[in-house]
Amino acid sequence: MRLLVTGGAGFIGANFVHSAVRAHPEYAVTVLDALTYAGSRESLAPVEDQIRLVQGDVTDAGLVSRLVADSDAVVHFAAETHVDNALADPEPFLRTNVIGTFTVLEAVRRHGVRLHHVSTDEVYGELALDNPARFTESTPYNPSSPYSATKAAADMLVRAWVRSYGVRATISNCSNNYGPYQHVEKFIPRQITNVLTGRRPKLYGSGANIRDWIHVDDHNDAVWRILESGQPGRTYLIGADGERDNLTVLRTLLKMMGHDPDDFDRVPDRAGHDLRYAIDPSSLYDELGWAPKHTDFDEGLRATIEWYRNNESWWGPLKDAVEARYEQRGQ
Ligand code: NAD
Ligand code: TYD
Repeated sequence: MRLLVTGGAGFIGANFVHSAVRAHPEYAVTVLDALTYAGSRESLAPVEDQIRLVQGDVTDAGLVSRLVADSDAVVHFAAETHVDNALADPEPFLRTNVIGTFTVLEAVRRHGVRLHHVSTDEVYGELALDNPARFTESTPYNPSSPYSATKAAADMLVRAWVRSYGVRATISNCSNNYGPYQHVEKFIPRQITNVLTGRRPKLYGSGANIRDWIHVDDHNDAVWRILESGQPGRTYLIGADGERDNLTVLRTLLKMMGHDPDDFDRVPDRAGHDLRYAIDPSSLYDELGWAPKHTDFDEGLRATIEWYRNNESWWGPLKDAVEARYEQRGQ
C-alpha cells in the first residue's frame, strides 16, 4: 500500500502518520505538507526514517498529480484550521481548504485513486444548549465561520466529484480533537501551556459553549476503519460522546495542574461563537464496528498535560508569538 497523507505534519495528520508506521510498517507513506506555521518537521521526527516528507503546497496541481499518481490511497488532512485566524484573515482558508481540496480531487480523478477527505462537525453549524439533539449524516450544512464555510465547500466538492465523476471518496466529519502535538493556539494546549509558562488561562465569553471532545488516536482509528471498510460516496460522523462546556474543561485542567480552578481570565468572546457541537456516532458504531478506546476524558486530559510538560522543546518556540497575536486581538 502506497499512502499519501496531506497535512501530515500537522496535529491530527502527524498522529495519523505515527499510527500508520506503527500498525503497517510495510506501507510506503508519503507526507505532503507546506509546513505552514501549523506544521512541523519535529512532529514527524519519531518516524522520519520510515516516511518520505515532501514540502509542498496542496494547491500545486503538478506536484499533487505526480504524488497521487504514485499512490494507492490519499488521506487529505491539509487545511487551515483555526477559527480565530479565519476571522482575522479568511483568504488562506479559501485557498487551502477549497482550492486545495479541488486540486486533490482532480488528481484522484485523473489517476483513479481512492480518497478519504477529513472534515469537521463545524460544517453543521451550532446546536442549542438546551436541546439534546446531535448532528447526524443528514443534518443540513449550516456553517458559521469562514473556517467552517470553507470546510463545507470542500465537502460539497468531494460529494460532487463522487456523483459526477465516480471518484472513490469517503468523507468524515469529526468533533473536537485533543492530544499530543496540537498547536498551542487551540483551546486545550493554549491553557495548559499558559499555566506552564506562568500565564493565566483565557476563557472566551461565559464559557458555556460546549464542544464534543475526542482523543486524536480515536479519530485516527476511525479514519483507518473508514479507509479500509467505508463505502465510497458515504459520509461518516466521528465522535466519542465527549460533550463538555469550556468552563468545565478549563476548571478541570486547572485542578489537575495544582491551581485554583478560578485562576483564569475571562476575555472578550469570539465573533459568531458557535454554542454547541455534538456528534451522534451511532452509524459508525453500527456499520463499521468502530468504538473509541479513550473513553475517560479526565485520563486523556491528564496524559495530554503530561505530554506538554515533557515536550516544551516542541511547543516552547511557538508560544510567545501565539500569545502576542492573541494579545493584539484582546484575547
Ligand atoms: P493543523 O492546523 O494542526 O494542521 C494542518 C496541516 O496542514 C499543517 O501541517 C499545515 O502545514 C498543513 N497545510 C496547511 N496549508 C497547507 C497547504 N496549502 N498545502 C499543504 N499543507 C498545508 O490541523 P489539524 O487540527 O491537524 O486538522 C487536520 C484536519 O482535520 C483538517 O482538515 C481539519 O479541518 C480536520 N479536523 C480537525 C479537528 C480538530 O479538532 N483539530 C476536528 C475535526 C476535523
Ligand atoms: P478551539 O480550540 O479554537 O476549537 P473550535 O473553535 O474549532 O471548536 O476552541 C474550542 C473552544 O474553546 C471554543 O468554544 C472557543 C474556546 N476558546 C476559549 O475559551 N479560549 C481560548 O483561548 C481558545 C483558543 C478557545
